[in-house]
Amino acid sequence: MKLKGKIALVTGASQGIGRGISLGLAEAGADIVVNCDRNIAGAEAVAQEIRTLGRRAIVAQADVSKSAEVKRMVQEALQAFGAIDILVNNAGIFIPSPIEEVQEEDWDRVMDVNLKGVFLCCQAVGRHMIERKSGGVIINVASISGHMPEVNGGAYTPSKAGVLALTRLLAVEWAKYGIRVNALSPGPIMTPLQRAAFPSEKLLAARNRAVPMNRHGTPEEMAKVVAFLASDDASYITGADITADGGSLVSMFYLVRQLAECTEP
Ligand code: NAI
Repeated sequence: MKLKGKIALVTGASQGIGRGISLGLAEAGADIVVNCDRNIAGAEAVAQEIRTLGRRAIVAQADVSKSAEVKRMVQEALQAFGAIDILVNNAGIFIPSPIEEVQEEDWDRVMDVNLKGVFLCCQAVGRHMIERKSGGVIINVASISGHMPEVNGGAYTPSKAGVLALTRLLAVEWAKYGIRVNALSPGPIMTPLQRAAFPSEKLLAARNRAVPMNRHGTPEEMAKVVAFLASDDASYITGADITADGGSLVSMFYLVRQLAECTEP
């Protein structure tokens, strides 16, 4: 168990990738602070699953875009466990829209949760890690959409590109404190967010065909990458971004061929 005795805080952990990461880190030996904003019942269920694995878990409710709530969440975590060794910034939202129709409040909300939320959590937990002088690990869940445009995704691509930039900045500034900061860029992962974006089996099948591996990834597969980055096996890795996307990011010529086969008379 490579994370035995470590304390991890995972944001947006009541469902989807955050739930998978929480369980994966617990399986690797960590105790978990399960953050949620509104879905407290979901977070309690995840905490209960973690306890069944023999680890400790608490639920810490906070909207990651609100600095006062983030500070309170970190205090609750420290009161319960005394330290935070691992922070996983997973909370994120997606509000689809062609860019010319994006409403200002939707732009602000996506940037507030996806980018400012990562900054606020990194700052609050980073201050604790710096003060504690024992180093730490931060993993930010970005997206392949931070690398290439999510068409009709509104502010999502700019927010995730910002997460990647912030990850690199923090990695450089905090290397001297022994804090490693890395990103995970998932491709399409089967979660409630993805289900909402592709609500029919036909649409999901089409989405699969755009992935060279011809399938969605799972939250468990994302958890394995995060557990690796959180462990000492990744002790010389900081400022990196690991894509876990079934080959999506490098698939342009594959897609051109797929399109040609579909449109050939
Ligand atoms: P999801 O919608 O299933 O879960 C997101 C979680 O974040 C939920 O538990 C939600 O309550 C929480 N959350 C939302 N706003 C919050 C806030 N202000 N404060 C605290 N928690 C908040 O989504 P999913 O798919 O599990 O996504 C997790 C992360 O992975 C997100 O950052 C998303 O952008 C990213 N991602 C997801 C991909 C996918 O295909 N599912 C692909 C690439 C990235």
